[in-house]
Amino acid sequence: MRVLIVGSGGREHALAWKLNQSSRVSEILVAPGNAGTGGIAENADIAATDLQGLLTLALRRHVDLVVVGPETPLAKGIIDVMWAAGVPTFGPTQAAARLESSKIFAHEMMRKYGVPTAMSNTFATYQDALDHINGMPMPVVIKADGLAAGKGVIVAPTEHDAAKALHDILERRIFGDAGERVLVQEFLRGREVSLLAFTDGVHVAPMVPSCDYKRAFDNDEGPNTGGMGCYSPPGFFDDDEMVRRAIDIAVMPIVHGMDQEGWPFQGVIYAGLMVDGDNIRVLEFNARFGDPETQVIIPRMESDLAEVLLACIDGTLDPSSLQWKPGCSVGVVLASGGYPGDYAKGFPVLGLDRVDPDVAVFHAGTTYGRDKSIVTDGGRVMSLVATGPTMAEARERVYSNVARVSFSDMMYRTDIALREVCC
Ligand code: AMP
Ligand code: GLY
Repeated sequence: MRVLIVGSGGREHALAWKLNQSSRVSEILVAPGNAGTGGIAENADIAATDLQGLLTLALRRHVDLVVVGPETPLAKGIIDVMWAAGVPTFGPTQAAARLESSKIFAHEMMRKYGVPTAMSNTFATYQDALDHINGMPMPVVIKADGLAAGKGVIVAPTEHDAAKALHDILERRIFGDAGERVLVQEFLRGREVSLLAFTDGVHVAPMVPSCDYKRAFDNDEGPNTGGMGCYSPPGFFDDDEMVRRAIDIAVMPIVHGMDQEGWPFQGVIYAGLMVDGDNIRVLEFNARFGDPETQVIIPRMESDLAEVLLACIDGTLDPSSLQWKPGCSVGVVLASGGYPGDYAKGFPVLGLDRVDPDVAVFHAGTTYGRDKSIVTDGGRVMSLVATGPTMAEARERVYSNVARVSFSDMMYRTDIALREVCC
């Protein structure tokens, strides 16, 4: 089977790495990919948002399965375009991907199908929204309805900040059409968990839960990023009973609801959960594999990923057939100094040959230099991921390997999974 993976991050490298181990897969193409995917697959220089270019590639190379990483092509309808041409594709249609591409749509679905979430109201004008927040308990959460490159959620500590966020989104249109409407939401307290699940539109098979770190610096300081590290499983969410309950209250009703409404959801459904004791509420849904969650989940997957993806497409997903490795995994992102702001590129990455063979190196912003060496080419350069019987061992192994890799201005967080091993 020939597989095309769409995307260029660590998530796509992890998917390629796992699919490369499947006896069902004979060839992997990645578009556009990075230096890491180039080492195990064939990169095709086509942007993840170039739907026609990707379709032409899939047809010309007789691709048997397309797997889509990022949200933008899903929201643009890549799944519909591929299926219309007869190319089997893993992921939700444009209509189903609205669970991620419209926060208001997701909220309405949650309300209709009884999924616990934050109290929210929708507004299309600045004045109405402003009147509503007047006297609300702070902080309050303001969410642009559409996709805003991960920047569309603002947690406003004061009414003044909330008014500014509403003005920026609804009047100044800093997110363009994505800010035509906003969701004003109650601030929830607790601990966040990412719970991803495969679904064929009816059956739901959870993956192992994980926690990501969004802030740039240790102790959750600094600006928000695309993710600086991740680990699995969270100690406070590590039993099958809890996962089962979260699937039953948060994921099953939505999968069922999407089917009822005529928009069956096939692919990965990602529930961002806020967990406060026994209380589980949904912060958001994503319609795809998470990044950097995938990099720590995939090394824990025992089952053949290709088989699972095909079962989702065929409508034959059997949740009891999925096998996961016990133990823990920790992933640390190595980023370019200055990220998520301005940073320089083109620095050689040194020491990769000294990384232990059983520590995974998932590339993101990398490319080949003139002499075929690997050089930095993005903000998040790569993740190192180690597994181990305990979190302490996985953590120790990943950081001792991180210390062997270097490039100019390299930065990384030193506290990934620390809260699981100390006080
Ligand atoms: P989202 O894209 O909706 O997950 O929001 C991004 C981040 O904003 C989440 O990971 C949370 O850290 C935070 N967040 C979103 N909604 C809420 C909420 N209602 N209460 C508290 N924090 C929130
Ligand atoms: N880790 C957050 C995301 O993939 O959206």
